[in-house]
Amino acid sequence: MKIKGQPYRTIWVAEDGWRVRVIDQTRLPFEFALTDLATVEEAAQAIRSMIVRGAPLIGATAAYGMALAVRANSSDAGMAEAFALLRSTRPTAVNLIWALEEMRRHLTPISPEGRAGAAYAQAAKICDNDVAQCRAIGEHGHKIIARLWDDLIEKSPKRPDRINVLTHCNAGWLACVDWGTALAPIYMAHDAGIPIHVWVDETRPRNQGASLTAFELGAHGVPHTVIADNTGGYLMQHDQVDMVIVGSDRTTAHGDVCNKVGTYLKALAARDNGVPFYVALPSTTIDWSLKSGGDIPIEERDARELTHISGRNADGRVETVQIVPDGSRGLNVAFDVTPARYVTGLITERGVSTASREGLMRLYPERGKEAAA
Ligand code: MRU
Repeated sequence: MKIKGQPYRTIWVAEDGWRVRVIDQTRLPFEFALTDLATVEEAAQAIRSMIVRGAPLIGATAAYGMALAVRANSSDAGMAEAFALLRSTRPTAVNLIWALEEMRRHLTPISPEGRAGAAYAQAAKICDNDVAQCRAIGEHGHKIIARLWDDLIEKSPKRPDRINVLTHCNAGWLACVDWGTALAPIYMAHDAGIPIHVWVDETRPRNQGASLTAFELGAHGVPHTVIADNTGGYLMQHDQVDMVIVGSDRTTAHGDVCNKVGTYLKALAARDNGVPFYVALPSTTIDWSLKSGGDIPIEERDARELTHISGRNADGRVETVQIVPDGSRGLNVAFDVTPARYVTGLITERGVSTASREGLMRLYPERGKEAAA
């Protein structure tokens, strides 16, 4: 996607041919800063501290983290150590484990001398694959939005002025390598001339919606309004939401969807108000080994992310302030699970399926043997 006319991905190899360059997302929306990762430890720290975040980008960074590791030590023991370090960074997004396993599977049969080059090439392939998957998700999701827009025009006595989509957290290009998952259909619909407006959940406690989704949509010129996380239900009751689209960090073989905490409440409100609730995800986000969302490990982060908040002050400096009384404790659970029964459809790179084992099997028949029954 473009920032001030210049095309960017979220991760790439720097001019020196080996350092890994990423956008420092902890500095958005007030500063668009790039940072270089030179070691596997720096890659792990970037994932842990959420300099990079979002399920597909976590996977891509882990892949390049392995490349950095192998460049320094290409032995089997070195690879195993790097695998364990990167694996420990964040527990919920399954793309992390998927990308690490892909790298290990690809590199193990190669002799240590050939591993560094092969690792960079494989990481680049994982990134290109993510871009292609997200573009395809965008195309499939765009069709759904276009259909809904046609329905709206047909049903309304006077021509509606826009279609309203609600999203939670950031599942845009910043969360992936390019395009995004939930936002890709929105970009394509907007580019095709559909008057789309996005309600952006602020997404407490880290505010990925307010700081990242709003930044992305603004940079692309998509009309949007940031809302408090608790506002979605009210808007749905008042016919102000035509569709919800969110991303996913891990989806089970039976269609339960784990995503940023608060997603579940939006799904409940959507069901109560007859609003379609879609989840956009590449197949790298599906955990074929799991049947129930209850088995997904849920990350719990530092309560300070909840008890403190950052923003720009009147002097233009970014400041962090405490928002709870001294001594109050906070609980910062980062994800929740939306049961498959609340999901209208899963938008994948192969098309749209019901949130069910049968639906996923129709799109991914080759997974039949490994998919939890
Ligand atoms: O904690 P984060 O910011 O990594 O969480 C991100 C999300 O929950 C996204 O919705 C999810 O990764 C889907 S991204 C395409």
